[in-house]
Amino acid sequence: MRYLICAVLVALSSACMAIVVAGQQAQTGGQEGVQQLDYRNMSPEQRAAATRAFLGLGSVPNKVAAGRGAPLYVKNCAFCHGRTARGATGPSLITSDQVLADDHGEHLAPFLKKGIPEKGMPAFAGMSDQQLTDIAELLHLQVEDVANRGAYQVVNILVGNPAKGKAYVEDHCMSCHTAGTFDHIATRFHSPEQLQRNWVWPARGAEMTADVNTSSGAISGRVIQVSDFRIALVDSSGRAHAVDRGPNVIVKIHDPLAAHQEMVMTLANGDMHNVTAYLETLK
Ligand code: HEC
Ligand code: HEC
Repeated sequence: MRYLICAVLVALSSACMAIVVAGQQAQTGGQEGVQQLDYRNMSPEQRAAATRAFLGLGSVPNKVAAGRGAPLYVKNCAFCHGRTARGATGPSLITSDQVLADDHGEHLAPFLKKGIPEKGMPAFAGMSDQQLTDIAELLHLQVEDVANRGAYQVVNILVGNPAKGKAYVEDHCMSCHTAGTFDHIATRFHSPEQLQRNWVWPARGAEMTADVNTSSGAISGRVIQVSDFRIALVDSSGRAHAVDRGPNVIVKIHDPLAAHQEMVMTLANGDMHNVTAYLETLK
């Protein structure tokens, strides 16, 4: 029963942890000579492993593959599923059965190749198995971040070199940003992981707009959904339009974050770690 409750409340894993601790103590209490299994006395690694087993999270996500998957996710999935996969116009992938049923892409890769085009989930037939598997690993890591708080201490992403990170920021970021973007940036986040997620995938503040020209006229407005096949927008009078994208339809999208996304595509893993290590010093 505990398992059931926790499976349902995966996102409330701290509450589950409390139940786990209480349950473990009830089980081990009174057994003389048996080593007490108390989460408070565990190393972060032991705690993460115990929580993983308890929540049925499956195998440990491959962080290197997830790192390769991050820019692919940003480019291909983030617009619909949100930058942290918690949902936007598409559903949250953190609570997705398709994701939870998968271990290392063996289920997700074939699913992503086909998509569900009739329901607005595009087919990614052009992506390689390796790319789709990397995206799958990234999604597992995201689930892990939400579900397994114990893992936060294990995933030490502060492995970069702050001096190199500073140099990278000066060379690659200041063409678009001012020092003000980074002032005390580390104080805005609870953990280096959160800091990294937010500078790699800033939350969408400014809205994406588009101009659409069709043979029957032009429409401009705020984009609510876009794929290779269709675009939906709301114009300034609040009217919604959905347009199938054909050869005679010209779509011009204005995405304030596009420049930043392009920058993300050029990031090597080492640069990412160095920049995070540097930004983490800006308290
Ligand atoms: C144009 C918007 C769009 C894009 C881009 C997109 N998706 Fe989706 N996705 C959707 C929608 C809408 C659904 C829900 C379909 C349905 O109703 O079953 C969905 C469903 C899913 C599901 C199944 C969720 C579940 O359990 O029901 C997964 C997994 C998924 N998408 C992953 C991805 C990944 C990974 C990418 C990038 C490679 C991606 N999607 C790109 C719109 C999108
Ligand atoms: C080509 C232009 C460009 C480059 C290069 C670029 N960014 Fe950005 N970045 C943007 C834009 C545009 C935004 C969105 C600003 C907004 O919505 O106000 C943004 C947003 C951000 C945000 C969120 C700001 C906030 O206040 O929430 C952070 C953090 C950030 N970028 C960090 C970086 C770092 C670090 C680099 C270098 C490794 C970088 N950016 C390189 C264009 C760029």
